Amino acid sequence: MNPGRDRCLHEMGLGPLWKLRTMQVPLEAAQEPSIAEEPVTIPPPVAATAAQVTDWDSLAAAVRDCRKCRLCSARKQAVLGVGDVNADWLFVGEGPGAEEDQRGEPFVGQAGKLLDNMLAAIGLRRGSDVYIANAVKCRPPENRTPETEEMEACRPYLECQIALIRPKLIVALGRPAAQTLLKTEVKIAAARGRLHEYLGIPLIVTYHPAYLLRNLPDKSKAWEDLCFMRREMAKLKGS
Ligand code: URA
Ligand code: SF4
Repeated sequence: MNPGRDRCLHEMGLGPLWKLRTMQVPLEAAQEPSIAEEPVTIPPPVAATAAQVTDWDSLAAAVRDCRKCRLCSARKQAVLGVGDVNADWLFVGEGPGAEEDQRGEPFVGQAGKLLDNMLAAIGLRRGSDVYIANAVKCRPPENRTPETEEMEACRPYLECQIALIRPKLIVALGRPAAQTLLKTEVKIAAARGRLHEYLGIPLIVTYHPAYLLRNLPDKSKAWEDLCFMRREMAKLKGS
């Protein structure tokens, strides 16, 4: 049982998965025996009508087809995230840029190169013990900062990712990620260098790599933050 996961799937309209089989299912799935005995009152979620969905599959389908905010209109594709779904580390950025929108993977442009270098500095590599996501899954036009309502609309997906991954440590890259996770106004300069918390999971705030590309002097602070995260993770792993 994973109450956090069930809650966020429910919030997204995906409902508890064991109930899905009692819905009207497509013809090819109609032969399958139902595992739930009680009738279900929740409406069938569109994204979960296939008979054998896994939680990640439901989430990916929901995000792919999502039209909950206006960012859906200009995207080429929604970008859910990338990496190890059992990772101890979760890095959260702002939103896809042009290259990410094109390729369907977060942090593949210039900022992504810097992020990869930051990960390498603490012995990490994309795809191995790290998951990378964004506060919003669709590209804001002209790469503008996502608006509060857009981040709110998209937050259940991020919450769901966190509930599924259950990372040991979350790193918020930049102000939008920090604000959507901490649900409060954040100034990076004030918030960095100490531990915050997201539903019991330690959270560290640092500069966004795109900001660091424009503000080179703050790279040394980002380096301090990387050292801080590495120390905290070592403590969390008890080593
Ligand atoms: N910046 C972000 O915040 N996320 C990306 O995926 C790419 C650039
Ligand atoms: Fe849906 Fe998030 Fe894309 Fe908005 S940004 S359309 S909430 S997936």
